[in-house]
Amino acid sequence: MRICCIGAGYVGGPTMTMIAHKCSDIIVDVVDINADRIASWNSDNLPVFEPNLDGLVKEVRNKNLFFSTDVETAVERADIIFISVNTPTKKYGYGAGRASDLSYVEACARTIAKVSKTGKIVVEKSTMPVRTADVIKTILASTGMKFQVLSNPEFLAEGTAVQDLENPDRVLIGGDEETQEGRDAIDVLASIYERWVSPEKIIKTNLWSSELSKLTANAFLAQRISSINSISALCEATGADVDQVATAVGSDTRIGSKFLKSSIGYGGSCFQKDLLNLIYLCEHFNLPEVAKYWRGVVEINEYQKKRFSDKIVESLFRNICGKRIAIFGFSFKENTNDTRETPAIDICRNLLSENAVLAFYDPQVSAEQICADLQIEKTDSRVEFCKSPYEASENAHAIVLLTHWDEFTKLDYEKIKKAMMSPAWIFDGRNCLNHRLLLELGYLVHAVGKGNLS
Ligand code: UDX
Ligand code: ADP
Repeated sequence: MRICCIGAGYVGGPTMTMIAHKCSDIIVDVVDINADRIASWNSDNLPVFEPNLDGLVKEVRNKNLFFSTDVETAVERADIIFISVNTPTKKYGYGAGRASDLSYVEACARTIAKVSKTGKIVVEKSTMPVRTADVIKTILASTGMKFQVLSNPEFLAEGTAVQDLENPDRVLIGGDEETQEGRDAIDVLASIYERWVSPEKIIKTNLWSSELSKLTANAFLAQRISSINSISALCEATGADVDQVATAVGSDTRIGSKFLKSSIGYGGSCFQKDLLNLIYLCEHFNLPEVAKYWRGVVEINEYQKKRFSDKIVESLFRNICGKRIAIFGFSFKENTNDTRETPAIDICRNLLSENAVLAFYDPQVSAEQICADLQIEKTDSRVEFCKSPYEASENAHAIVLLTHWDEFTKLDYEKIKKAMMSPAWIFDGRNCLNHRLLLELGYLVHAVGKGNLS
């Protein structure tokens, strides 16, 4: 069997690596139009930073896993084609700012239609709006050959991709349950996962349930974060401690303890995009009340970011012009180099609009990426890029911790304080530092949802 995956991104690369690893008899071609990305997958410097991914790639690359820019040859040879390209929020025209831009998906379907000599199984791996499979089906049907379109959304989270792929909570496969060919296609895909995932974890549904379940899962996760973040504002106003509230609330087994960590807001490529898409779908199907409900989740996330940057400006006497501020972490979460929708972008932009001098340190994100995200030049006098958190905090008025990288919890904060200006502030946007100790060292501390830090 031969598999082709179109799109060598954060989803396609790791997912196909795991399939190649678990199925040594299957040849897996990962293709992408971005030649730099493919060159990077073929080098020692992978384009995606994920714990334990390097070793896995090295074990199977050029054995049964191949990275190439030759999209057409790989598509033509494949029995199963995964579409794992980006589906960003549409920037123009109908549905701008909310709907997903499906042009990359459509381009893939057209390539498959153009080069295929026989019918194949085509799998939607990227998160897609409900009924996208119709678009793919219609284009493929024009060839006169028999294709089966499946939806197999990926639930991996960045930073834990390898463990999530190795041991998923579930694998969801949606297909045409009404026909024998559709059921057979679902079973073929399921048989690949069954090499390492137990059959009880493989959920088979119709196409639309599968597409909608992925959007719903991300919306529920984002909603939990916005729920606890909304309560964090109330904690700060009342003297309650949001972590204590989260523990007390989450210990109810009906609620559960995961995804209740209050923060500066969620980021990443999925939550915002999928919520906007869900809202758009509700509006499209004339369900304004449902759209309004989910819009509240997005609004709380925006509010949380703004609240945090306002707190920094306010605490530094509403005057941060020319003041050096150390920024600890820029990626949207720890253990990834991904900065898509990172809350750091809005927070840093707000600080830059007040002409603060930001000294950045992130263990994985490059200066070029930070500049691109903030839409500034690397030579801008308001930014500096540092090799260590110690360098970033020298002469700084404040440390602003935006990503929960483990190394930030292990720093010598006594040494750091001596090199900072006085008073020295720490704004802990992830509630991951030892606040008691920092207060004893003489820092002024603000943390999300901690109403009683002094
Ligand atoms: C998410 C989903 O978890 C995953 O199933 C889906 O396939 C893709 O989208 P990802 O965006 O990689 O994964 O990371 P996730 O761990 O969900 O975190 C998203 C954001 O929420 C991050 O910015 C994170 O810091 C934040 N977060 C997460 C919180 O603020 N609090 C929490 O309790 C959990
Ligand atoms: P994700 O996080 O969903 O994996 P990424 O943006 O990281 O998204 O990756 C998507 C990849 O898909 C990009 O590397 C992009 O170059 C690639 N891509 C987009 N359209 C096509 C196409 N028509 N053919 C091949 N690759 C494509």
